[in-house]
Amino acid sequence: MSSFPAHLLSVRDLTRESAIKILDTALELSRSSDGNIKKLPTLRGRAIVNLFYEDSTRTRISFETAAKRLSADVINFSAKGSSVSKGESLKDTALTLQAMGADAVIIRHWASGAPQRLAHSGWIKGPVINAGDGTHEHPTQALLDAFTMRERFGSLGSGLDGLNVGIVGDILHSRVARSNVFLLHLLGARVRLIAPPTLLPVGIELWPCDLSYRLDQSMNDLDVVMSLRIQKERMDQGFLPSEREFSRHYGLNADRLSMLKSGSVIMHPGPMNRGVEIDAASADSEQSLITNQVTNGIFIRMAVLYLLLAGIPLKEVAHS
Ligand code: CP
Repeated sequence: MSSFPAHLLSVRDLTRESAIKILDTALELSRSSDGNIKKLPTLRGRAIVNLFYEDSTRTRISFETAAKRLSADVINFSAKGSSVSKGESLKDTALTLQAMGADAVIIRHWASGAPQRLAHSGWIKGPVINAGDGTHEHPTQALLDAFTMRERFGSLGSGLDGLNVGIVGDILHSRVARSNVFLLHLLGARVRLIAPPTLLPVGIELWPCDLSYRLDQSMNDLDVVMSLRIQKERMDQGFLPSEREFSRHYGLNADRLSMLKSGSVIMHPGPMNRGVEIDAASADSEQSLITNQVTNGIFIRMAVLYLLLAGIPLKEVAHS
């Protein structure tokens, strides 16, 4: 595929064609996993490094699962407990991993732009995949979210044309929101960000989306309501009067779920602050696609690894 990038650093590196290629490949891989083929030999003998400078449950484990389902060897590196605590730089860590034979590096870092630095430095020779950098981007999360929406509302080969998606809450600190806005727009969805003014970033008017300060007025219009985690660890100022106040205006609860159109769904990238941005009844409701998102994360990450590292037709792989 000519338009597929060498790395996956940002959804803004994708064309509509390459984004749909990832979604279609993930669908094909999910069908292989449903059937008899649990493990594909595609990446046998390749070493994939999970380089995590920030905590993660879903992203790290699903990348590991995805790589193993493609028969790759996985090296898990967590900054905690490594020589990073002795002051080792990103460069020296990367050079060490390269010297050990890393074929691809999946990086999560607290600094926005760290994956770009790694990809363009020459320290790592293979593909670099952004697993979340600071408040910048989380491209595989947006892809798995789009896959989950398409699974419910779309079809093979298509985008998400005309779908109305609301993203609610802490937009300011959310790399998930940024990646989703640009990817969903690319795929033809209409995106509305719903948040208090203090939780919207500077320059938001340049993003391809609408804005609203009121959730209740939007609920009835939306096909998908995506609630975001309040990122307490990135808040060192008074962004919110109180969690209770935020929850009253922006939290998903039974009353708000009853305002949804029939067939509409709710999503959350996780981890959730139950009782703050989403209550337990909503998270565990029939309208919730939260566990589907987690499952689909494996297929999207398999597709990304496959397309960046293998690039041979899937049908041939399945029969090799
Ligand atoms: N959604 C997400 O990135 O979750 P983790 O932080 O657990 O990886």
